[in-house]
Amino acid sequence: MSRSLYPPRVVNIEDLRRLARLRLPKVVFDYLDGGAEDEITLQENCRAFRDLTFRPRMAVAFENCNLATRVLGADIALPFLLAPVGYSRMMHPGGEVAAAAAAGAFGAGYILSTISGHKLENVKTATAGPAWYQLYLLGGREPAEAVLERARVAGFSALVLTVDTAVSGMRERDWRNGMTALLGERVFSKLPYLPDLMAHPSWLGDFLRDGGLPKLENVIIPGKGHIPLTDVASALKRSVVTWNDLLWIRQHWTGPVVIKGILTADDARRAVDHGAAAIVVSNHGGRQLDSVPATIRVLPEIVAAVGGQIEVSMDGGIRRGGDIVKALCLGARAVLVGRAYAYGMAAAGEAGVRRALEILREDLERTMRLLGCADVQQLDSSYVEVRGERPTASS
Ligand code: GLV
Repeated sequence: MSRSLYPPRVVNIEDLRRLARLRLPKVVFDYLDGGAEDEITLQENCRAFRDLTFRPRMAVAFENCNLATRVLGADIALPFLLAPVGYSRMMHPGGEVAAAAAAGAFGAGYILSTISGHKLENVKTATAGPAWYQLYLLGGREPAEAVLERARVAGFSALVLTVDTAVSGMRERDWRNGMTALLGERVFSKLPYLPDLMAHPSWLGDFLRDGGLPKLENVIIPGKGHIPLTDVASALKRSVVTWNDLLWIRQHWTGPVVIKGILTADDARRAVDHGAAAIVVSNHGGRQLDSVPATIRVLPEIVAAVGGQIEVSMDGGIRRGGDIVKALCLGARAVLVGRAYAYGMAAAGEAGVRRALEILREDLERTMRLLGCADVQQLDSSYVEVRGERPTASS
């Protein structure tokens, strides 16, 4: 099998998804690829971009095309950050370190998930770009306070608080495939799933050489040690983040706080009132509450509600540079890409993430040139139409 990550084998993100599916056991691929319940929101996130059509300006010439922007005071060379992706180290031993290194090499930002198999210090050292830390209150406030201090010392410049995870979404693929059994310590419970693991020798070899199941390196309960992987779902349920926690968080984190998981104008205004520096319009990639709308659909309403008081980014369904352009046209400062890079990581570690970012960068520049717009910061709603109607919000 050719290992090339270039055409004809890899032309777009869907090609990386195909390679990820070949390398990963089904149980790991479906964790990455799947969503909640009927996966209505998962599919809608991607499909909704098709309702937006471009309104290009023809015969416009320019030499340089600016893809750079600023998020929370930091310059990024590309208008996106890599979204927090839990269990990255299960997909490839390089995991979070590899993804952060690739993000830095391309001048994109990186957001580290609480559910990380690598120490946050090593992830920060690996990237040349801005790095933010995503917080779940696994194990309560005490471990969170310790991790916030570690993140500050390591140089993470913003804290991302995910607010859509009161409990884990019902990811039916994970239940059928035995994800819980795989994460557990009981060897016998894994037996039914061994054929799946053994049918993917390249992944299995990497996984075993890496020491098997990664620990959650940044969730350490005082006196008890690392939280077991099987306890993540119940720990999430015991530690729901509420608006009241913001006050306590601000005592332990003086940098900017980003609220991720906003889907309505009301919650966006609440985030402003609670001192958020930015919000991410997100439905957790369709992994939490199914049947919530695609994020690109609610973005204009939220941008309008926030009225420029804080930065608004979005995630969900981005598989092409053109999707990023559409989100910026509707007022997003930047976007977060999740699966789009994680497919590359799962297929080929850091090289795969780099290929994903290269595809998105080339897509972005080509789309901007075909659109007749020389600067991502000049994109606004005049460049798109929603089913024949001009959207109202602009950046
Ligand atoms: C974790 O945040 C996940 O979506 O699996």
